[in-house]
Order: sequence, then C-alpha cells, then structure tokens
Amino acid sequence: MPAAIRKAVIPVAGLGTRFLPATKAMPKEMLTIVDRPLIQYVVDEGRDAGLEHFVMVTGRNKGVLEDHFDIAYELEATLTERGRTEAIEQLTRDRAAAGTMSFTRQQEPLGLGHAVWCARDLIGDEPFVVMLPDMIPRGEPGCLAEMMALYDETGGNVISVEACDPAETGSYGIVGLGDPIGDGFQMTTMVEKPAPQDAPSNQYINGRYILQPEIFGILAEGRRGAGNEIQITDAMLRLMETQPFYASPFSGRTYDCGSKQGFLAANVAFALEREDLSEAFAAEARALLDAAGR
Ligand code: UTP
Repeated sequence: MPAAIRKAVIPVAGLGTRFLPATKAMPKEMLTIVDRPLIQYVVDEGRDAGLEHFVMVTGRNKGVLEDHFDIAYELEATLTERGRTEAIEQLTRDRAAAGTMSFTRQQEPLGLGHAVWCARDLIGDEPFVVMLPDMIPRGEPGCLAEMMALYDETGGNVISVEACDPAETGSYGIVGLGDPIGDGFQMTTMVEKPAPQDAPSNQYINGRYILQPEIFGILAEGRRGAGNEIQITDAMLRLMETQPFYASPFSGRTYDCGSKQGFLAANVAFALEREDLSEAFAAEARALLDAAGR
C-alpha cells in the first residue's frame, strides 16, 4: 500500500474577480449552491474520501471561512431554545472537529503553485491532496474517493480528469493519456490551455490532485510561468520527469463554479436532486423556460 493520504490543501486566496461585486466583501468560496457554501461541498467530499485535516490557504477578507467551520454559540443556543434539533444536527455535522482545520495566509496572489507552497510546513513530508474550491464535482462516489481508489493501486501522483468539448481545450489544463492502469491511465503530459489542434486529448484537469511532497521543493524555486504567476502545472511537469503521474477519469460531472454559467448550472442540478425542492423547483424552471420561449 502507498503512504496514506490524510491532508488536503484548499487554496482560497484568489480574488474571485469574475464574481464581482458579489465577492467584494465576501469570499467566492461562500457563494452557495442551494443552501450550502461551495467550501462545505469541498470539505464534505474530502471527509467522505477519508481525509483527516484541511489546510486552507487564505488571503485578506477570508475570516468568514474560519467562522463557518467554528461553533456558533449564540445561534446554536437560540436553535436549542426553539427546539430546532434538525438544524443543530446539521450544523454539528458540517463544522470542523477541533484541530482538524488549519489556516495560513498567502500574502500576495502569486499564483496557484505559490498558494500550495504556502501550505508546505502544515503538510510536511507526506503525500497530500489539492482541492480547488470552485470546482464542484457531482457524482457517487465522490471525485476524490475515485482518485483514492486508483492511488491505492498505483501510488505516485494522481490527477482527476474529465472530458471537455474538444473545441474548448483552450480553457483548461489538458492531459495526455498513456496505457490504462486499474480504473485510470498513465499520464504522459500536461498542457495548459492548448488550442484544439495542439491538445493531446480532450481530458481536462477538473481541480483535484494527489501530489507527492517533492512538489514543494520544485515550487520553492519560485519560477514564474504564464501570467508571471507560479503555476502548479509547471511544477507538476517537472515532477513528472522523476515520478509517475496517473489520470483518474471522474465518472460524474464537475461544475466550474468560478464561472457564472457553471455556478448557475450547479444550482439547478443540485436543486433538482434535493428531495425537499425538486418537484416544485422543476415545475418553476419549466414554466420559466416556456415563458422565455426556450
Ligand atoms: P482562479 O484562477 O479561479 O482565480 O483560481 P480567482 O481569483 O479565484 O477567481 P477569478 O478568476 O479572479 O474570478 C483558482 C483557485 O486558486 C486559488 C483561488 O482561490 C481559486 O481557488 N488561488 C489562485 C490562490 O489561492 N492564490 C492565487 O494566487 C491564485
């Protein structure tokens, strides 16, 4: 068995400019799909896959993320007085157990690779997960659980991938696939935002990574890439020279909630799955589409 994976890095230091003004004073990760913030879906996915500790790499204006996973004494006391047992049970399930969440700051937005590097001391010398909080996979079992199953067979570095429209490779990190192994593939390369004619496949990286700790040594060099940022893809390509990488095709669908279209689609998809909402919401959505002639 390869070394156990216990910890995840969740980089939440970005400015969320595509969602201004909503993200002026509130972190993007607190946007809700139905009634749960994006960050809650990500932590739940990690817990379901067996993770024990979450390291959030934050920036200014992100304090509310810490509050979200803390005990809310006044609220819980009021709910208790009102006999709202179900609500209290939900809040208890959602919050972080003492000592299972750490926060560290990325002082300047120098890129995703730099954000991950900021977590190096909190991760230490063990393999770990990176979860992008605006990429929300929907499916059973969770995306990370599928990756963990492949990792148990292969060890090494495992990247989750999903098919995109071949015409849209220019919007994503695209991987090249080699021989099949277990439920995945050996990975031959990674290319950031290739034009369709240059793309090695239509399999894009959907925001979940299992990485070996040697990535930190590469990130420590601080080499700048596209946009003058320290890019995680550049560091992974260098790690690929000495370590195996595997692609884990996700069997569900991921919603890019950093984009307005993906965020709205996620709300519709998740609402249609909710027992308490599905019927009434579907009727309303159908009526809206009819009224708009769509
Ligand atoms: P994005 O590219 O989506 O950037 O970052 P963003 O700032 O969140 O949003 P836009 O594009 O301005 O609307 C992908 C992930 O990497 C994190 C972000 O928080 C997000 O989770 N990130 C990015 C950092 O933590 N630090 C960085 O320097 C860059």
